[in-house]
Amino acid sequence: MMLHLRNIFIPHILSTNTVSSFRWRIFLNDPVFGLMRLRQATQEIHAAFEFELKVAKPAAGKNDYQIFIQAMWGWLSPFEKILWQAEWPHEIDALSRNGKSAWLHSDLRSAGLQDDDIAALPLSSCNLDMTSPSARFGVAYVIEGAQLGSQVLAKRLGPILQPWPTRWLTGYGAESSAKWRQFMLSAETSLGSEEASRIAAHSARQTFTSLQSWFHLQGAA
Ligand code: HEM
Repeated sequence: MMLHLRNIFIPHILSTNTVSSFRWRIFLNDPVFGLMRLRQATQEIHAAFEFELKVAKPAAGKNDYQIFIQAMWGWLSPFEKILWQAEWPHEIDALSRNGKSAWLHSDLRSAGLQDDDIAALPLSSCNLDMTSPSARFGVAYVIEGAQLGSQVLAKRLGPILQPWPTRWLTGYGAESSAKWRQFMLSAETSLGSEEASRIAAHSARQTFTSLQSWFHLQGAA
């Protein structure tokens, strides 16, 4: 079901050719670079995480959603600025991606939390490696990719969450496909060597693991 969902959702530019070349390269045991290496490194953990995420369960409601945005805020807000204010290829337009904590903050306010309540929420101690461009691509892959899952959740949960606006789940809105396409193209260019793709894949796995552990601690998964 999960893999099915992931396969049919949002056709994107690298989809068909990339997927079939990915399968062939795995079959042939060839080295895999770039985006395919990131996917290969994280597909299992994504499937497991998506499965256990309480907000993604069929019976999820407002309470699960509130726990989800609180957990996401607590995980992302301590390091989001550090990530996007570091050096990035120009075409990534890093500044335009550096506002998701603000989206979460406004969602928390919409869910009825006051600024004091938000300030008292637990924050994760960020220990992600963001010291090299490749490592940063791995971290950003998880955050930008989460926007694809958000679109699925927005469709499912939107009516249930009325009248709350869902800023995080709406994400980049009409620009979503273009933003993801640009991220993928840039990742392909920047992670074209064995070393760069190995570092990025390791970083993406660490990022997923960090998010998953934090969500367990916060009762969101
Ligand atoms: C916060 C939690 C989540 C994170 C961090 C996350 C991460 C990711 C990442 C990194 C990708 C990109 C995969 C690629 O390379 O194409 C992705 C894609 C996707 N995710 Fe998630 N995801 C999350 C939650 C979810 C949930 C809850 C769902 C389903 C309800 C979901 C469904 C999808 C789908 C449908 C895609 C697109 C697959 C495609 O276009 O091939 N994700 N996600």
